[in-house]
Amino acid sequence: MRPEINPSSLHKQNYVFAKFALSFLLIGLAFRLFFSDSIRLPSSVVQEPPVSESKTETQSPLVSLPIQKQDEVDPSAAFTAKNESLTNRTETCDIFVGEWVPDPSGPFYTNESCHAIESHQNCMKNGRLDSDYLYWRWTPWDCKLPKFNPGKFLDMMKDKSWAFIGDSISRNHVQSLLCILSQTEEAIEVYHDKEYRSKRWHFPAHNFTLAVIWTPLLIKADIFEDINGVSSSEIQLHLDKLDKIWTEQYKNYDYAVIASGKWFLKTAIYHENDTVMGCHNCHGKNLTELGFEYAYRKALQLVLNFVTNSEHQAFVFFRTTTPDHFENGEWFSGGTCNRTVPFKGGEVGLKDVDAIMRDIELEEFEKAVEIGSQKGVTLALLDTTQMSLLRPDAHPGPYRQFQPFAQDKNAKVQNDCLHWCLPGPIDSWNDLVMETLVNLSKGNLH
Ligand SMILES: *[C@@H]1O[C@H](CO)[C@@H](O)[C@H](O)[C@H]1NC(C)=O
Ligand SMILES: *[C@@H]1O[C@H](CO)[C@@H](O)[C@H](O)[C@H]1NC(C)=O
Ligand SMILES: *[C@@H]1O[C@H](CO)[C@@H](O)[C@H](O)[C@H]1NC(C)=O
Ligand SMILES: *[C@@H]1O[C@H](CO)[C@@H](O)[C@H](O)[C@H]1NC(C)=O
Ligand SMILES: *[C@@H]1O[C@H](CO)[C@@H](O)[C@H](O)[C@H]1NC(C)=O
Ligand SMILES: *[C@@H]1O[C@H](CO)[C@@H](O)[C@H](O)[C@H]1NC(C)=O
Ligand SMILES: *[C@@H]1O[C@H](CO)[C@@H](O)[C@H](O)[C@H]1NC(C)=O
Ligand SMILES: *[C@@H]1O[C@H](CO)[C@@H](O)[C@H](O)[C@H]1NC(C)=O
Repeated sequence: MRPEINPSSLHKQNYVFAKFALSFLLIGLAFRLFFSDSIRLPSSVVQEPPVSESKTETQSPLVSLPIQKQDEVDPSAAFTAKNESLTNRTETCDIFVGEWVPDPSGPFYTNESCHAIESHQNCMKNGRLDSDYLYWRWTPWDCKLPKFNPGKFLDMMKDKSWAFIGDSISRNHVQSLLCILSQTEEAIEVYHDKEYRSKRWHFPAHNFTLAVIWTPLLIKADIFEDINGVSSSEIQLHLDKLDKIWTEQYKNYDYAVIASGKWFLKTAIYHENDTVMGCHNCHGKNLTELGFEYAYRKALQLVLNFVTNSEHQAFVFFRTTTPDHFENGEWFSGGTCNRTVPFKGGEVGLKDVDAIMRDIELEEFEKAVEIGSQKGVTLALLDTTQMSLLRPDAHPGPYRQFQPFAQDKNAKVQNDCLHWCLPGPIDSWNDLVMETLVNLSKGNLH
């Protein structure tokens, strides 16, 4: 049985909202750092955080990691404190609830055997020495989850096409899939945009197409960032218009994995009907603070509405938000993620901001599933939040840069505790994708 909703979570949310005003400036900077896809951050941003505010906010529940004692928390409470009817998966096994168990067989690939790993996530090449984080396998409590089978996947996907639609976490995910598949067939890159953020590959022997489409907010957004990820102005976000970059090519794909999240925490002006309705975190602008959750819900409604009402009937995976693991500070104040083993269930809870996002995701997904099933569109949840939360040990940390301690072993280095090392636990996300696909083709889901 799942526990009831925890009434104290509401109280906690109020506390969080009270802190939003101050902390979001910093959050904005943090996510600019990690989602900007920049080659390198300008040193002014890295080395000189806004001191006056960082002092008050280093303890913010938004960005610190609330480690809870075992006896305070039900092992799955952080993930089940929601209306049961939202996730009626009791009939089949819930592959998203489980734990990481040691797996001596290790990853499918290495930095040598896969050529698709981007430098920021290539932890081995960048000098990370410990490798224990590679030897864990996601294991659901109630069922056996087969390991991803690249040959079987490619055979199933003959003449098919996939798109990963979202931000740099989606690109992290597509690289993982690409690396796994490349051990069976090497992909050929057939397209990249100017900034190398959107890409497409072809697997000739299977006539399989794989793409990643960079659209961090999924909806129409004017982003004013230079190639270093430094923004000159807040995002202008249109809550009633989708980002055409993905909707225009949506019909080309048989499968889509759609996700968003952290970019909605950035400072933004919200437009609806070509009118400014308010904003998020826009101090001194005399606009109504609407809160990121207002925009996030609207955006997801628009996205899922598009998918369920589209003439093109794709199989859509909707992935939930991914948590970060900064500890002992934040990204700007020496926060690190140097743990070397996974958490066990109950050792850690979701940060409030992630919990808020995930609740919105689950609610909107559940509504869309119903509409989709009437229209013949298959929507599947890819609920990677819990399994990801349990892996503080597998982020690049300082090894987002090449050999960060080569010159000075005490060097102060910016840490990335949000994206995932490759190989790494994000590879297991594909086990879930595969299991869902296989079950669907057997008629077990839907
Ligand atoms: C759960 O959600 C359903 C419909 O979404 C609602 O009817 C029901 O009252 C909710 N139950 C609780 C305990 O919130
Ligand atoms: C959950 O699923 C079972 C079996 O499919 C069904 O009988 C039940 O009504 C569902 N519950 C809710 C709340 O949707
Ligand atoms: C997939 O189907 C098998 C039986 O065919 C079942 O054992 C397993 O629990 C199912 N997995 C999911 C995620 O529903
Ligand atoms: C792979 O990583 C190892 C260290 O684990 C490093 O010595 C080697 O140069 C890397 N190779 C490539 C191609 O990046
Ligand atoms: C490859 O797949 C596409 C659909 O994705 C199809 O239109 C095309 O005819 C296929 N090519 C071959 C050579 O089978
Ligand atoms: C949008 O603007 C049009 C024309 O100005 C108006 O008729 C319509 O009601 C507006 N819609 C919303 C949702 O505000
Ligand atoms: C803020 O906006 C309101 C209404 O839009 C206006 O009445 C008020 O004068 C504005 N305040 C400032 C300081 O501009
Ligand atoms: C992890 O980082 C903290 C500082 O954030 C440091 O005090 C600690 O010694 C580090 N642990 C290891 C094993 O490097």
